[in-house]
Amino acid sequence: MDSFTFHSPTYFAFGQDMESQSGDLVRRFGGSKLLIHYGGGSVVRSGLLDRIRASLAQAGLTWVELGGVQPNPRSGLVYTGIELCRREKVDFILVVGGGSAIDSAKAIAAGVPYDGDFWDFYRGKAIRQALPVGTVLTIAAAGSEGSPDSVITHEDGLHKRGASGPALRPVFSVLNPALTQTLPPFQTACGITDIMAHLFERYFTTTRDVETTDRLIEGLLLAMVHEAPRVIENPDDYGARANIMWAGMMAHNNSCGVGRSQDWASHNIEHELSALYDCAHGAGLAVVFPAWMTYTLQQDVARFAQLAVRVWGCQMDFAQPERTALAGIQALRSFLASIGMPGTLTELGAREEDIARMAHNACFGDGRQGTLGGFMRLDEQDVANIYRLML
Ligand code: NZQ
Ligand code: ZN
Repeated sequence: MDSFTFHSPTYFAFGQDMESQSGDLVRRFGGSKLLIHYGGGSVVRSGLLDRIRASLAQAGLTWVELGGVQPNPRSGLVYTGIELCRREKVDFILVVGGGSAIDSAKAIAAGVPYDGDFWDFYRGKAIRQALPVGTVLTIAAAGSEGSPDSVITHEDGLHKRGASGPALRPVFSVLNPALTQTLPPFQTACGITDIMAHLFERYFTTTRDVETTDRLIEGLLLAMVHEAPRVIENPDDYGARANIMWAGMMAHNNSCGVGRSQDWASHNIEHELSALYDCAHGAGLAVVFPAWMTYTLQQDVARFAQLAVRVWGCQMDFAQPERTALAGIQALRSFLASIGMPGTLTELGAREEDIARMAHNACFGDGRQGTLGGFMRLDEQDVANIYRLML
């Protein structure tokens, strides 16, 4: 295991009706004038936004509002939000929604105290300070409620890029699993897929002696395999929703990723798909991951076989461990299909003629240096080959 430091100071309020504490939480974490930021309207339709407003009013807070964050959030609304916060002297951002709204809020939070273009942070500049962000989460997926990350697509060139820094970790996050009961089954399944993808990105490592984090990852994957069919069968299953919601946080606040190298090629390969075709991130990952696994299998057959045995219950073939490893990848494909995820580029609406462009952009676009991935270094040709495996 490698040396590491880990500081994850987000305060979590988990359970039924916890959103009614939003006003008190904002006060406790120093907010007085807020921006409420949200997505395309699900929080309006469900009545959640009204309940949040009531809680804020009761705590004597004032606020301005900015809705309209779209999935795969765009830079345009971030610029609007930065201007609004500066004009209104906002000192706290409360975001109500999913990963897209949260990431947009984080981008605004970093942009307000910064003199330059907020996009500098998405091209590698360190984030020194940001307005505090609190979240009320409505979908278990991206893990942004506990992560120091934000992913935004710049409209100029459709570059989808991430920024990261301790200042972007939310100061608090309200996690009420019941708020996710209004999700369509497709979005629920996309979220489960993203949670599993965050675990795979950490599982495929070149670091040795990582049994503790291996076992944490495997445990969370097993929980997803157990809970997914339950929630697809019964969207109102609070217990299943609760387990998925906490797993989503655990999968991405990096408690499972400390002390080990991580990969992240698949996320970068997916980001080209959701930037170009505006597909759901989780659906894109469902197509990318089995292809990436097939392509990188020879890098460490034993690790793939270990996953197959411990998570997918495959029988270990000691004479030909590659068979076990391949059976694990096939089990993942079957699982993803069983929860309604796509399996091919065509199902995502992607086109073969765009592969070269996507591979180039993934490796060289907007300041990138030419290779992706910590488990196996992939060059532009490798990335194009992986896209072709998805056809
Ligand atoms: O916009 P509204 O109307 O709210 O509808 C959303 C949206 O259409 C809907 N939804 C959310 N909660 C709902 C609901 N509908 C009914 N009932 C509810 N309770 O679901 C749709 C998807 O929402 P979105 O926020 O886009 O989903 P998700 O949380 O999966 O976020 C995806 C974004 O996060 C990024 C992805 O790349 C993508 O842009 N990621 C962010 C990460 C991070 N910051 O750490 C890490 C991830 O790997 C990921 O890359
Ligand atoms: Zn993800």
